[in-house]
Amino acid sequence: MPHSSDVLIIGGGAAGLSLALHLAESHSICLISKGKLEEGSTFYAQGGIAAVLDPTDSIEAHVADTLAAGAGLCNEQVVREIVSGGPAAIRWLEKQGVTFTRAEKPDSPVPWHLTREGGHSHRRVVHADDATGRAVEIHLEQRVREHRNIELRENHIAVDLITARKLGEQPDRCLGAYVLECASNHVEVYAANHVILATGGASKVYLYTSNPDTSTGDGIAMAWRAGCRVANMEFNQFHPTCLYHPQAKSFLITEAIRGEGGILRLPDGTAFMKKFDPRGELAPRDIVARAIDHEMKRIGSECVYLDISHKPADFIREHFPNVYARCLEFGFDMTKEPLPVVPAAHYTCGGIMSDASGRTDLPGLYAIGETAFTGLHGANRMASNSLLECVVMAHKLAEFIDREPAQAPPQQPLPEWDESRVTDSDEEVVVTHNWHELRRFMWDYVGIVRTTKRLKRARSRVELLQHEIEEYYGNFRVSHDLLELRNLTLIADLIVQSAMSRKESRGLHYTLDYPQAAPQTANTILVPRNYQRAETSPLSAVNAP
Ligand code: FAD
Ligand code: SIN
Repeated sequence: MPHSSDVLIIGGGAAGLSLALHLAESHSICLISKGKLEEGSTFYAQGGIAAVLDPTDSIEAHVADTLAAGAGLCNEQVVREIVSGGPAAIRWLEKQGVTFTRAEKPDSPVPWHLTREGGHSHRRVVHADDATGRAVEIHLEQRVREHRNIELRENHIAVDLITARKLGEQPDRCLGAYVLECASNHVEVYAANHVILATGGASKVYLYTSNPDTSTGDGIAMAWRAGCRVANMEFNQFHPTCLYHPQAKSFLITEAIRGEGGILRLPDGTAFMKKFDPRGELAPRDIVARAIDHEMKRIGSECVYLDISHKPADFIREHFPNVYARCLEFGFDMTKEPLPVVPAAHYTCGGIMSDASGRTDLPGLYAIGETAFTGLHGANRMASNSLLECVVMAHKLAEFIDREPAQAPPQQPLPEWDESRVTDSDEEVVVTHNWHELRRFMWDYVGIVRTTKRLKRARSRVELLQHEIEEYYGNFRVSHDLLELRNLTLIADLIVQSAMSRKESRGLHYTLDYPQAAPQTANTILVPRNYQRAETSPLSAVNAP
């Protein structure tokens, strides 16, 4: 018997958990995550959640800042809808038990302490110290675990979507997913009326990343294989400041440190950001990351330094307890000395094309959170707009699903996963070798600064790897690592294709061959060969800039 529920949510971060809680009163929910529930980017989010709460701030200002950071590619209507949902999202999170840091001054016009980050013209980032994501994830997780209508399956990895077309039925729609149970290494059928991809980003495609191991772009890859369009994959955001230490695994040093006065310095102590942008340390991330990259290459340094040691030690420990403690573990006392930092891949601005309700090209399939491309971020995401998008889009999608009439079940049972022609792998080294090679050349050739020649090099390597991995995939039993590698290789292909087609520099995509922004611009929309739904896709003329 296949596993069956009204709603199958793939992903247990801010997007997936919020959606589950919104829908659980009216639907049976199955939520799967490929590792432990908290293992996703949400848990590691530091800075906070952008929302207009201060009376001197306004929705219009938040919209304008988001559009400016997005460098001409945001969908203004989507930006306005998501930004307008910010205040309610914060209150909803508080209802779930999340406690945000309170205002320091008793006469503050709002109860929260609002911090500042790059691109924001106001203090509008609500946070739980410097570990906002942990507070959000832990409380939502607790609520989800308590709910009788939510069945949780950790250590389950979605392999591919099941579509009506694969059964020979029309019209096409999503009917469920094949899911690998990691403990038994068995693939099972999960049937559902509504399938939601809330699988997070794809920054693991780069050698150095602030992201946890889960960010392998599985949702984007599954949607693409099922015939959905994907957009703006060239815009992968690099966070300017991750700790430079061999054992730190690119530990993030929150942008809020720059928001509270942190200064970027060269090894000789010179501050350099004002040379690149009048906003200095608080310019949007693409500008700061590129400036650091430029300076490191110019002087041949392995890192630059982030210095907040001019602030009182108590202020630093109080505002950044998590970062302070972690840096001390690596031997750096940020109250006394600057921290060595480097950029690392951080956020996937592109993703599965979806509308302002979370619908994709395939009826019955939805995408929310970092895996989705809604048009909010344009060519560069503004800091702390991501958790905001997760929570607001979860709410909007829940409202949509609540209004949807029930679908008739498929006319035939969903086919079992076919393992009749595969055997156990005899050469795991193929997976580990290709995994490393892929992430290395993506970092070297498709990083912060690109050229057409480097992109071509990357393309020929991606093609080789794709060929090798598809052959391996066809012959051997699937495993967690193989599935992720297959997805990451497809992600690399989509990023390279998108980057090659953008003949200009804009936002996060910078190429020495076309260093200027073109006067006319558009989103990069990639269309899979099996895309069938030009007339019937729920997405009509969506995401035009
Ligand atoms: P995630 O939280 O990444 O969750 C993805 C889920 O999908 C996981 O449960 C994973 O197991 C599951 N999954 C993936 N593939 C599969 C599969 N095949 N089968 C089953 N399950 C699967 N944003 C902000 O707005 N503010 C911040 O301060 C901030 N700080 C950040 C700091 C760090 C270090 C990082 C890495 C990111 C930060 N971001 C921040 C970005 C933000 O955290 C993420 O964009 C956001 O949390 C994404 O949430 P999500 O629910 O879409 O995905
Ligand atoms: C940070 O705290 O610097 C991360 C914020 C974000 O990615 O939005």
